[in-house]
Amino acid sequence: MIGVLVSGEGSNLQALLAARLPVCAVASNRPGVRALERAEQAGLPTRVFALDEFADREQRDRAMASWLQELGARMVVCAGYMHLLTRAFLDRFPDRIVNVHPSLLPQFPGARAIDDALEAGVETTGVTVHLVDEGLDTGRVIRQEPVPVRPAETLAERIHAVEHRLLPAVVGELCGR
Ligand code: GRF
Repeated sequence: MIGVLVSGEGSNLQALLAARLPVCAVASNRPGVRALERAEQAGLPTRVFALDEFADREQRDRAMASWLQELGARMVVCAGYMHLLTRAFLDRFPDRIVNVHPSLLPQFPGARAIDDALEAGVETTGVTVHLVDEGLDTGRVIRQEPVPVRPAETLAERIHAVEHRLLPAVVGELCGR
């Protein structure tokens, strides 16, 4: 069973649900986001773990890991989750946390990967699904797919389309499907 971490729109969560992957719970660091609405519409348990409700990041991560595990999560997918995870969380799901990132890592880590690729003037960027460690988009790459930058006007849309295909495919394989 899969716990999903979100922070925003939730289109990658939607792709996991559309692929009928066994998602058991959805946690967000931000209240009121569209991803939580999508999870609720799918009848899934949701909970917000805002940083300012906890003494520090470790305590937030510990509470979030416990909640996911209580609901049966054995692996975790970061689907547009915009915070780094501490050891307090990582150690609870060793080598079982994956993230989707809109570039060919190690190129363009961080929150502005699509804009950074455009500004750098590269011809090709892409999508990476990777294991999560303590770094910013630094964990072991599981799969990558290139996406041509041009036409620039549609780059974000084309990257998201690849994410929505690649993430469920990799997660499905990791779940033994
Ligand atoms: C995606 O581009 C993902 O790669 C990045 O943040 C975006 C989240 O989109 N980490 P969504 O919330 O899944 O729609």
